[in-house]
Amino acid sequence: MAIRKIELYGSPVLREKCAPVGEITPDIQALMDDMVETMRHAKGAGLAAPQVGVPVRIMIVDLGAHAGKEHLVFFINPEFVSKEGEMTGEEGCLSIPLIYEKLKRPAKVKIRALDRQGKSFEIEGEEFLSKAISHEMDHLDGVLFIDHLSALKRDIVKRKIKKLIRDGEWDDPYPLATREG
Ligand code: NI
Repeated sequence: MAIRKIELYGSPVLREKCAPVGEITPDIQALMDDMVETMRHAKGAGLAAPQVGVPVRIMIVDLGAHAGKEHLVFFINPEFVSKEGEMTGEEGCLSIPLIYEKLKRPAKVKIRALDRQGKSFEIEGEEFLSKAISHEMDHLDGVLFIDHLSALKRDIVKRKIKKLIRDGEWDDPYPLATREG
């Protein structure tokens, strides 16, 4: 397993419509293992394959992240079965470090996908889980959470990002070596 580089906002791969996975090859297995390690290293609650530079329809969500108890679920070629209601919650994204904004998501979602072994499953999520799943699903279509903000808010966020980049805050957001001091 290896920690892969997380693509940051501005990287074209984050805007791609990702391709479905045909067969779960050793390369795909390795990608999934690396995604887990990369997500843990960056202390994220979810990660989609394009965020490590591979535009395929794979995402992982830590369904236990809100409870401090890891419970990883792998989704290959996920599809919405249903979406219900509406909720507002704060989101961030490993590809957009240090930016957190409130936005609307479905209150409840039902997803169908293949698991790591290629077996079909369905899962329902509410509140935190609905938000996390919806966020990762977006990544597979090249959509980022800030795309859901109003034009005005999005402009403010874009200016914040420019400043973070200018100030060097995005130079190495997930350093591999432990820094001392
Ligand atoms: Ni994200």
